Amino acid sequence: MKIIVCDSANEKLISELKKFGNVVYKPENLQVEIENAVIIIVRSATKVNKELLGFAKNIKAVIRAGVGLDNIDVEECKKRGIEIYNTPSASTNAVAEQTIGMIIGLMRGLYLGHEGMKNGKWLKKETVGREIEGKTLGIIGLGRIGSSVAEKANKLGMKIIAYNLNKRESEFIEFVDFEELCQRADIITIHAAMTKETENMINEKSIEKMKQGVYLINMARGQIVDEEALYNGLKNGKISGAALDVYCEEPYKGKLLELSNVFFTPHIGANTIEAQEKISGEIVKIIEELKNRYEK
Ligand code: MLT
Repeated sequence: MKIIVCDSANEKLISELKKFGNVVYKPENLQVEIENAVIIIVRSATKVNKELLGFAKNIKAVIRAGVGLDNIDVEECKKRGIEIYNTPSASTNAVAEQTIGMIIGLMRGLYLGHEGMKNGKWLKKETVGREIEGKTLGIIGLGRIGSSVAEKANKLGMKIIAYNLNKRESEFIEFVDFEELCQRADIITIHAAMTKETENMINEKSIEKMKQGVYLINMARGQIVDEEALYNGLKNGKISGAALDVYCEEPYKGKLLELSNVFFTPHIGANTIEAQEKISGEIVKIIEELKNRYEK
């Protein structure tokens, strides 16, 4: 059974996969290698689109080492009878912890202090920050990651409001509609999936409704935020600052980089040893199950 690991993975996973067959890691020419592959494993870099699938003659499953399926043409896979798997809960804690780090890093100007010292500057006045205790955190999308962020933020003394299509009972989360969330939150953090409904939901209009001086965190998908509207909001002071891990085009090289009130990270929400180990463990289980099934 030929398995292709298209994007970066840890060595342990590669050696475990070798038990199941012929493993090709990060092939230079994926269009050629995919021809006789049975399973391909991707993170977010490889786009599993109609064009790529057109080269695959034997493929039975696509495994997404992560949560979002937005780099996979799900409809096309369905048409071709290709199964899709992901590892939905393995990176929850990693992303939630980074979110808390991004909120504090942004509001305390930690990224500015660090950058300043590296450039020989002692930026003390420039990094006067804000505390998170007592602030209202507005969470967009209350799935696994949003819920974990809510729990952690609640323990840090924040008040939690959330916008989510499905509401549920919670002792400390107040469910509100999107407009109310924009109006009331001191900090807005996005943890929704990228869909037709969420694409560009943070735009000129929604930014206008937000509190003066709001902070915005995006750990979900770049396309949920209209980057031009965000840039304008950050420039004119409506938005005090943004912390971004995801972008419309990655690697990001756009004009938000000009601004000093943005804390950037390069899509590393799931990049912890622990999360990657959990992801690898889940992938091995999926492949074990598939191999048993395919060999029957
Ligand atoms: C995910 O969807 O799991 C995350 O964005 C992490 C990643 O793609 O590396």
